Amino acid sequence: MKAEICVIIIFSSWQKNQKPLICILNYLWRKKMHILVIGGAGYIGSHVVKALVGAKHKVTVFDNLSTGLEMNLFPENGFIKADILDYGAVKKALQNKVDAVVHLAAKKAVGESMEKPEKYALNNICGTLNILNAMAETGVNKLVFSSSAAVYGNPEYLPIDEKHPVNPVSFYGFTKLDIENYMRWYGQLKGLRFVSLRYFNAVGYDEEGIVRGLEKNPQNLLPIVMEALLGKRSKVQIFGNDYDTRDGTCIRDYIHVSDLASAHVSALEYMAKGGESQILNLGTETGISVLEMIKATEAATGCKVPYEFAGRRAGDPAVILATPAKAHEILGWKAVHSSVDNIIKSTWKAYNA
Ligand code: WQD
Repeated sequence: MKAEICVIIIFSSWQKNQKPLICILNYLWRKKMHILVIGGAGYIGSHVVKALVGAKHKVTVFDNLSTGLEMNLFPENGFIKADILDYGAVKKALQNKVDAVVHLAAKKAVGESMEKPEKYALNNICGTLNILNAMAETGVNKLVFSSSAAVYGNPEYLPIDEKHPVNPVSFYGFTKLDIENYMRWYGQLKGLRFVSLRYFNAVGYDEEGIVRGLEKNPQNLLPIVMEALLGKRSKVQIFGNDYDTRDGTCIRDYIHVSDLASAHVSALEYMAKGGESQILNLGTETGISVLEMIKATEAATGCKVPYEFAGRRAGDPAVILATPAKAHEILGWKAVHSSVDNIIKSTWKAYNA
């Protein structure tokens, strides 16, 4: 049967003037993969799992539920409750016929990383080294890694492309950059192939309302705005209104989490087709200021957001914007959910449920 399919593919590729090998690989690539999603119960991880299931891949979630939520687990997927610091557990999970790994399990509070670097070194670096070593030992050689805009530090030019110098100004950003360097070496020495996705400002919630788990103790702007709307906080403090921007507040590149999620699916399918290792920005190149985000939230919800202007937050650049051109070129990926309206409405739907 398989031989017949190969003959058909070779014949049709010859008719379309395409390379038969590429067509066969394309066919094979369509086969369902088994993906181990480490950190799959978290905010971004659960959206990635939903996108993978939607693309008909088999998923096993590996999560210690320290920040991930049980309500983010889908009953049809496998689930392993374990920690990435437990080498034996990681290795055992990989031995269950896993084709590729998505690794999103990390501590991600920038401020905390400067106060407790040891916690970030242990979880983000030692934990990931366990994953890389266990992958090398078990022969699983494809990895999609959650990296961050934080690897760049203060922008030297805008929009930021992947050739921009990397110079993290937080320990969190350092841990992400360090892992990218390890992945390069494991690529050379152990045959690892990876796609490192440098997220800019992740926001929004699943528009279908299937993923609904709210982040515990959120630290980022939009969840804070939502909590202020719901009276869980007295007000939003806007950190600085004297920046050299159109309204004096900082401008960021906000990307909807469903767009981030679809990039993971594309990255896995790209590697399954034989694609080489890549580092890619995930952003939109569209800037929204803090004040614009607040005004758009008021317009979308019909509610007043209580806010006040406060001093600048240390380490905040005035403007951060990414060009996603390389992700588009390599993966054919584009952000389609990231309008301000979608971002705010989907977040409000999750918070106001
Ligand atoms: C956004 C804007 C704040 C809270 C973070 C990480 C970065 C990357 C993306 C993942 C800033 C302002 C915020 C508040 C405010 N993450 N703000 N009042 O710092 O741009 O980026 O997410 O790897 O590494 O640092 O995100 O949501 O904290 O802030 O005025 O109460 O909102 O000053 O301009 P940030 P953020």
